[in-house]
Amino acid sequence: MSDKKSEAGAFIQVKNVWQQYGDQVVLERLNLSIAEGEFCTLVGASGCGKSTFLRLLLGQEAPSRGEILLDGQPLADEPDASRGVVFQRYSVFPHLSVLDNVTLGLELPRAPLLGRLLGRGKRDAREQAAQMLHKVGLGHALDKYPAQLSGGMQQRLAIAQALIMKPRVLLLDEPFGALDPGIRKDMHALLLELWRETRLTVFMVTHDLSEGFTLGSRILVFDKPRIDPHAPGAYGARVTYDIPLNDGRRAPAAAGPFRTAYQGA
Ligand SMILES: Nc1ncnc2c1ncn2[C@@H]1O[C@H](COP(=O)(O)OP(=O)(O)OP(=O)(O)O)[C@@H](O)[C@H]1O
Ligand SMILES: [Mg+2]
Repeated sequence: MSDKKSEAGAFIQVKNVWQQYGDQVVLERLNLSIAEGEFCTLVGASGCGKSTFLRLLLGQEAPSRGEILLDGQPLADEPDASRGVVFQRYSVFPHLSVLDNVTLGLELPRAPLLGRLLGRGKRDAREQAAQMLHKVGLGHALDKYPAQLSGGMQQRLAIAQALIMKPRVLLLDEPFGALDPGIRKDMHALLLELWRETRLTVFMVTHDLSEGFTLGSRILVFDKPRIDPHAPGAYGARVTYDIPLNDGRRAPAAAGPFRTAYQGA
C-alpha cells in the first residue's frame, strides 16, 4: 500500500500526536489515516487514553505535540458542528421535553441572541427534530421529559441531539455501557442503520471487545507497549493493533483482509 496515496485521500489524519498532562505521558506517537465513512471502534485498558483521544478529535483539547487534520486542515480550536458527541451518560436538559431538547440544537446557532426561533423557523426546526426523533425510535415520546425515559431512550435522545446538527464525525464514548444487553442489541442495530444511511465517520470507545468487533469497520487497540515500573507516567499508549474488519457489509477497508500496524519505535 502506498502510504502517500492513502494519506492524501484521508479524511482525518492524526500525525505524530502526543498527549501529556504534567509529566504523565498519556498518548504517544499516534499516526492514523481515517477515510470518510469508516466506523472505528476503540478498545484498550482503563486509563490508557481512549477518552483523551476522543477529546483531541473533538477539538476540546489540543495535543501536546503533533496535529490532527480534518480534510487536510488543522482542527478548529473549539468543537464545532462538524463533530457530534455522545457520552456514556449524556446530560440532556432535564427541564426541556424530548422534542425541545433536540430542537434547541437547531435554534441556538440560528438565533444566538434569543436562543429561540419564532414563527416559521420554529415550526421547521420542530418538524426536523420530530423527524430525527422518529428515526431513532422516540416518535412516541416527543412530549416526555428526560427523567421519564429509560436509559436506552435517553441514549436515543442523545444520539438524536448529536445527529440533528448533521455532523460529519460522530464521537461515542461508551455510549451503551450502562444499558442492559437486550437494549444494547437494539442500539447496535439503530447505530448501524444510521451509519449506513448517513455515511458518517464514527469513533466509538467500548469496553466490550465483541461490541468492538461487531460494530466496527476497523478496530483500534490502544495499549502501552513500554512500561517503566519506576516511572509509571513516563510512557504513553499507542495504537498497537489496527485491524480492518472487512465483512462485505460495510465500506471497504483501506488495506487487505487482516492488517496489524504496530507503530513501533
Ligand atoms: N485533564 C487531565 N488532566 C490530567 N490527567 C488527565 C486528564 N485527562 C485525563 N488524564 C489522565 O489520562 C489518563 C487517561 O485517561 P482517559 O480518561 O483518557 O482513559 P480511558 O482510556 O478513557 O479510560 P476508561 O476506559 O477508564 O474510560 C488517566 O491516567 C487520566 O488520569
Ligand atoms: Mg474513558
